[in-house]
Amino acid sequence: MIKPLLLGFLCLAGCAANAQKFAQLALTPPMGWNSWNKFACEVNEQIIRAAADAMVTNGMKDAGYQYINIDDCWQGARDAQGFIQADPAKFPSGIKALADYVHAKGLKLGIYSDVGYQTCGGHIASRGHEFQDALTYAQWGVDYLKYDWCNHDGLNAEGAYTTMRDALHAAGHPIVFSLCEWGDNKPWRWARDVGHLWRTTTDIFPAFDAVLDHTNWQQWGVLRILDAQKPLREAAGPGHWNDPDMLEVGNGMSVNEDRAHFSLWCLLAAPLLSGNDLAHMSPATLQILTNQPVIALDQDALGISAFPYATNNNVEVWFKPLTGGDWAMCALNRDPAVKSFSFAWNKAAVSDAFAKRDANFATTTYALENLWTGQPAGTTQETLSAEIPGHDVLLLRLHKP
Ligand code: GLA
Repeated sequence: MIKPLLLGFLCLAGCAANAQKFAQLALTPPMGWNSWNKFACEVNEQIIRAAADAMVTNGMKDAGYQYINIDDCWQGARDAQGFIQADPAKFPSGIKALADYVHAKGLKLGIYSDVGYQTCGGHIASRGHEFQDALTYAQWGVDYLKYDWCNHDGLNAEGAYTTMRDALHAAGHPIVFSLCEWGDNKPWRWARDVGHLWRTTTDIFPAFDAVLDHTNWQQWGVLRILDAQKPLREAAGPGHWNDPDMLEVGNGMSVNEDRAHFSLWCLLAAPLLSGNDLAHMSPATLQILTNQPVIALDQDALGISAFPYATNNNVEVWFKPLTGGDWAMCALNRDPAVKSFSFAWNKAAVSDAFAKRDANFATTTYALENLWTGQPAGTTQETLSAEIPGHDVLLLRLHKP
């Protein structure tokens, strides 16, 4: 007699033939928190609960943050039947209990695995157990999976990620699928029907304009990652996002740099996954992470990423079309020194061929709102003048009359 468990697996494998990613998820870029940037492998259930508690009490949940994502190093061993267990020392209550805890707060839980036999942190990963792991995540009530690319041993990336997509679909519990293969195989070309977001670069680190060299890999700062997004904007849209990696706001850059980093990720329509210690953060960090009008740029229903318009004297101007005919405009001072910036709207020709939208400042006068001061900033009838501190932004919303 075939055991019910085995029967279940046979069905799952068979049912996967018509698999797809879960539709109607991540129609705007996912917002939440992830443990990696701050805690790396020093993660445990107290830290995850504390992050969920903080997200509810500090206003982040009200601002739209939803996912509490455990990154690498939660895994223990597989049991006798091959089911993955959480590390009993770090997660003695188990992941199901943690999911219940997070769900009771109106939030969602995310987890992490990898296409190889081992994760980047050397823990047990999903290779050969994809359908079994997907079933386990579904039974635990997990809502988001980040799936990494370490130790891939030459696997075909599209195939490996499609296998996990099919496994998740067969398990039947709606789940956001986050591909993390660092852009190595250009997922923006093939992952639209595989996952809801895909990393575009190597790992971020909390620096604005620097690269950190390890022996065989690099971590990139904000500007380096930003520049890598410029050719990719057409790949992003509702349900399928470029992921320039998780936020480093509150992890050691200056307030100016944190503000610029957050503004840029919102302009890119990037996932907003905070990566700091939510239970212990400064008021300045919280204020950046919860600036509603800035978040509204990220979460705009059009889902169109910004484009660089012009650079003058190391100040780079970006535009992002928004629903209802509004625009976001950002002047990014890439220089560490303060810069005087002026912008003559009447000489500007802002035309977005991809989004099929133009801003005609000769025929339309937009009211300007400074999104970091919250103050009106004149209209597009006057030339804009501002001093922009080093590594900071001037961020405006152009309100269509
Ligand atoms: C890779 C990913 C990171 C993080 C670590 C965990 O480096 O890109 O975001 O998940 O693995 O080991």
